[in-house]
Amino acid sequence: MSGTARLDRLLANLGYGSRTEVQRLVDAGRVLLDGVPVEDASARIAVTADLPSRMRIDDEPLDPVAGMALMLHKPIGVTCSHKEIGPLVYGVLPPRWRRREPGISTVGRLDKETSGLLLMTDDGALLHKIISPKHHVTKHYVATLARPLRGDEAALFAAGTLMLEGEAKPLAPAALETLSPTSARVTVTEGRYHQVRRMFAAVGNHVEALHRDRIGALALPADLAPGEYRQMSPADIAAIFA
Ligand code: URA
Repeated sequence: MSGTARLDRLLANLGYGSRTEVQRLVDAGRVLLDGVPVEDASARIAVTADLPSRMRIDDEPLDPVAGMALMLHKPIGVTCSHKEIGPLVYGVLPPRWRRREPGISTVGRLDKETSGLLLMTDDGALLHKIISPKHHVTKHYVATLARPLRGDEAALFAAGTLMLEGEAKPLAPAALETLSPTSARVTVTEGRYHQVRRMFAAVGNHVEALHRDRIGALALPADLAPGEYRQMSPADIAAIFA
């Protein structure tokens, strides 16, 4: 994001409190810009991506400004939802981030029992670009299976004719690479409900564990442990569409 914004509105939209509460933070000298306390909460400031390196609140860098995109290593057992009961993926983020406007959403979903690379953003245009079928963004999964592969799965997945139970339209072609008798790498471009699990169900198998390790050419970083997240760089975002 770039442009200018009133400081009180910017901080309120980042979840630091109401505009009155932000006014109090400013009056108490707790908001510094380039090391100098800001005096006027209604002042317009330039909102650039480097603002968090210039602004500090209570001696902490400002949160990322709007237009942020995160990659998260989703652990097993958390749900990609704002409202379900139990641990939610948004609970991994700092509590203040849940009060941001625009809000942060997951880019598509992973099942509760699926782990791996999950993207989150407050940038609606980016979200739609990633999930739009037009861009054919590939999603790469490693599936651990209950039963050995039969040998015909790769051809069935690639055919573009596989039907999932209860659906009227066949799946787009998907790739399967055998990793072991009971594990495979599957690459899909669609994002249907429980898609990979249902693809294996359609060929008489059962997915016991599912992990997404790549979206486009963006790999889950090896040093990102389950439950950890980081901001994506412009190069990371470009890799999604590479
Ligand atoms: N396919 C599934 O079955 N589950 C996921 O979480 C993602 C793809």
